[in-house]
Amino acid sequence: MCGIVGFVGEEQAAPVLLDGLARLEYRGYDSAGLAVLDREKGLQMVKSKGRLKVLSDMVDGGKTLSGTLGVGHTRWATHGEPSDTNAHPHLSNSGRIAVVHNGIIENYMEIKEFLQGQGVTFHSDTDTEVVAQLLDYYYQGDIVEATFKVIHRIEGSYALGILCADAPDQLVAARKDGPLVLGYGDGCNFTASDVTALIKYTKTVSYMEDGELAILTREGIQVYNDLNQPVEKERSTVDWDISDAEKGGYEHFMFKEIMEQPEAYRKAAFPRIRGDRVELEDLNLEDDFIRQLDRLYIVACGSSYHVGVVGKYLLERMLRRPVEVLLASEFRYADPIVDEKSLVVVISQSGETLDTMAALREARQLGARTLAIVNVMGSSIAKEADSVLYTWAGPEIAVATTKAYSTQLAVLTLLGLHFARVMDTMSQREIGEILEQMRLIPAKMEEILSHTEEIQYFASQYFNHESIFFIGRNLDYAMGLEGSLKLKEISYIHSEAYAAGELKHGTISLIEPGTLVVALATYAPLFDKAISNVVEVKSRGATVLGVTTESKREEMAKHSDSLIVIPDTHPMLLPSLAVVPLQLFAYYVALQRGCDIDKPRNLAKSVTVE
Ligand code: F6R
Repeated sequence: MCGIVGFVGEEQAAPVLLDGLARLEYRGYDSAGLAVLDREKGLQMVKSKGRLKVLSDMVDGGKTLSGTLGVGHTRWATHGEPSDTNAHPHLSNSGRIAVVHNGIIENYMEIKEFLQGQGVTFHSDTDTEVVAQLLDYYYQGDIVEATFKVIHRIEGSYALGILCADAPDQLVAARKDGPLVLGYGDGCNFTASDVTALIKYTKTVSYMEDGELAILTREGIQVYNDLNQPVEKERSTVDWDISDAEKGGYEHFMFKEIMEQPEAYRKAAFPRIRGDRVELEDLNLEDDFIRQLDRLYIVACGSSYHVGVVGKYLLERMLRRPVEVLLASEFRYADPIVDEKSLVVVISQSGETLDTMAALREARQLGARTLAIVNVMGSSIAKEADSVLYTWAGPEIAVATTKAYSTQLAVLTLLGLHFARVMDTMSQREIGEILEQMRLIPAKMEEILSHTEEIQYFASQYFNHESIFFIGRNLDYAMGLEGSLKLKEISYIHSEAYAAGELKHGTISLIEPGTLVVALATYAPLFDKAISNVVEVKSRGATVLGVTTESKREEMAKHSDSLIVIPDTHPMLLPSLAVVPLQLFAYYVALQRGCDIDKPRNLAKSVTVE
């Protein structure tokens, strides 16, 4: 979704802004723009549809824009098509105020009509332009005062960066339901949609809260709450480096992040495993509360939801209690049956997904306790949940999630084992065995990752299929969902995942000679059943790419045209291994098809609109 960068300092702003925007490219965008304020030249603005490179070339990497204060923006279109005119910044009609915005102004039509009634003309189709024109309307020489008035009048979500030609030394930022981080440099200060944009310049940051407004100058940052009272922000230090957010020799972030999974899994899981026990120090749920839970809810979107689907199978087995896994976009409008005795676990890499955030709020409003499994520190979901378990995966830049998925799964498994101990639904021996096997997962992932050429070869055989099915039972079905999503989102091949037993209730009619079916059969208790389904599709002419474990290699080879084999492990941990070849398969297929792997069309990394 849209990305914002703001800078005020001693050096030329435009190159810094372009560098920051480049680091936000992963969020997804279709146009970009800059506004820079120069004491002599006033407000200068450049914007363009398309890739950031177009914008950068227009200003020779920023060199042709003088001024040491500015804002930059990458836009992911919501209101109005991607175009030069709809790109941000938006300028007020006086030409003295420039605005960049992330979010949606829900009452923009009403404000637009009001301003049009006052004779104001509009130039774009965006909701954002009403902010610029409304600032003009309220402006009486003090841009901060005008901004306060505007944020009290607009409804919806926003992260805003505002420049005013009459205030050549300050940048105003404000947020509600849209991420905005503040960065404290030496003689310079920053704001951005996320830390990635400013980590090259400073590691000292604070996270803006809803309703806050910040004034950034070279000397410092002053923050006010929505009652206009000064706020002392707590500063934190980012514990990763710029190199973590760079490709480091890899062709794509996605591949780099796939390869980082063993280490990410270690970081997420190992500090929480103490002997044969799970220690979740950051979990503030009392044992009595855990024991009285008669049902659990897991709520998320996309791949994080798929982690929830795996979680349902795992946690029901571990806890012998029903686990409901729900899409956040459905949960929030489903009038969910939760109360103060319920626990709602939300899962989100970014911690900013609007539907997940809204589901979390709905759950809290109904009195439920909420627990968030989140990757991005200080993100909105992490701040609002009653309890947070971070996944510590480091920055994930590729739009298609990989290491975040693996670490979410590791943390959810640990949560299940912790609950099982408290609820006394598993023996200490069983828990200990799984923990012991968890310690071996990173090395087993490394083993899979040392044979990428095999999966690359299969991808080269199958990349021109136009429709691919993933089938599996139980945990293998949950894995199929993720494998299928990964493939379709980056390769644009139509793909569906089915519970293998469900095939003959309709879908099997789509199988014809040559249709590629990825058959997941890693879960030993249902291996024979899975094979029956493989036989069914094969006898209708399907080409089968089998995925199984070492111990079932021979049997599976008899029924597969190609075979991917993963190491054996505890059945509950199989998804952590099976996901890796599926990610690689999607990656190599997309590579063969020449797709823009890290920035697939129409997609955004952090979905901050509904
Ligand atoms: C797919 C993918 C998305 C996200 C989804 C939720 O590869 O990345 O499906 O999983 O948009 O995002 P988060 O986890 O940030 O809430």
